[in-house]
Amino acid sequence: MEAYIEIDHVTKKFGDDIILHGISICMERGKVYGISGNNGSGKTVLMKCICGFLPVTEGSIRVNGKYIGPEIDFPESIGVIIETPGFLTNLSGMRNLEILAGLKGKITKEEVREAIRKAGLDPDLKKAVAKYSLGMRQRLGIAQAIMEDPEFLILDEPFNGLDKHGVGDIRKLLLELKQQGKTIILASHNSEDIRILCDEVYEMDGGRMFKI
Ligand SMILES: Nc1ncnc2c1ncn2[C@@H]1O[C@H](COP(=O)(O)OP(=O)(O)OP(=O)(O)O)[C@@H](O)[C@H]1O
Ligand SMILES: [Mg+2]
Repeated sequence: MEAYIEIDHVTKKFGDDIILHGISICMERGKVYGISGNNGSGKTVLMKCICGFLPVTEGSIRVNGKYIGPEIDFPESIGVIIETPGFLTNLSGMRNLEILAGLKGKITKEEVREAIRKAGLDPDLKKAVAKYSLGMRQRLGIAQAIMEDPEFLILDEPFNGLDKHGVGDIRKLLLELKQQGKTIILASHNSEDIRILCDEVYEMDGGRMFKI
């Protein structure tokens, strides 16, 4: 079977600092891949390279047959949550996602509302995002990542800032997405999340990846 994501000898440098050391992995469609590893080991940098947010220094990344960088700027059907999501903080959560959805014009207002509900927020909440708690912002980021029903999700620490209920809600949501056959890459410091959700787990250590 052809790999959905092919990471081929990827090295990433910032100046003289080598952050990723010749990483090669193939990932299949419909599986959930976990990445754990110490702070600064390169998880976020790798995820940004896969999304096309950062160019690789050497090697290549192919998603669904297309080279990220030379062929397309970012994977075609992707939802991303990396670090703290950026929103227009003077507007409501619904308005933020409406604007983002409107940029591509692929989904309706009702689909945006549904994504917000799935992430455990109220789409009718008028409060500006500036007044959201950390967990509420994280939930809004998750809503944004899923709203266009992408086939591929990159989730960097999606449980950041979530309380017990939030973690439960988002785990349930991710299990649903997994059952729908989405391909997911999940970085988490929580070994329980990884164990519950992932088909395969990798450990990142000093810019190298090991299957565990
Ligand atoms: N834009 C950048 N310029 C220079 N160095 C960077 C840049 N982004 C990341 N780095 C460096 O790359 C290394 C890996 O960082 P990365 O954010 O990928 O770690 P991580 O595994 O995601 O850590 P954490 O568990 O804390 O999220 C770190 O040493 C970091 O300082
Ligand atoms: Mg990180």
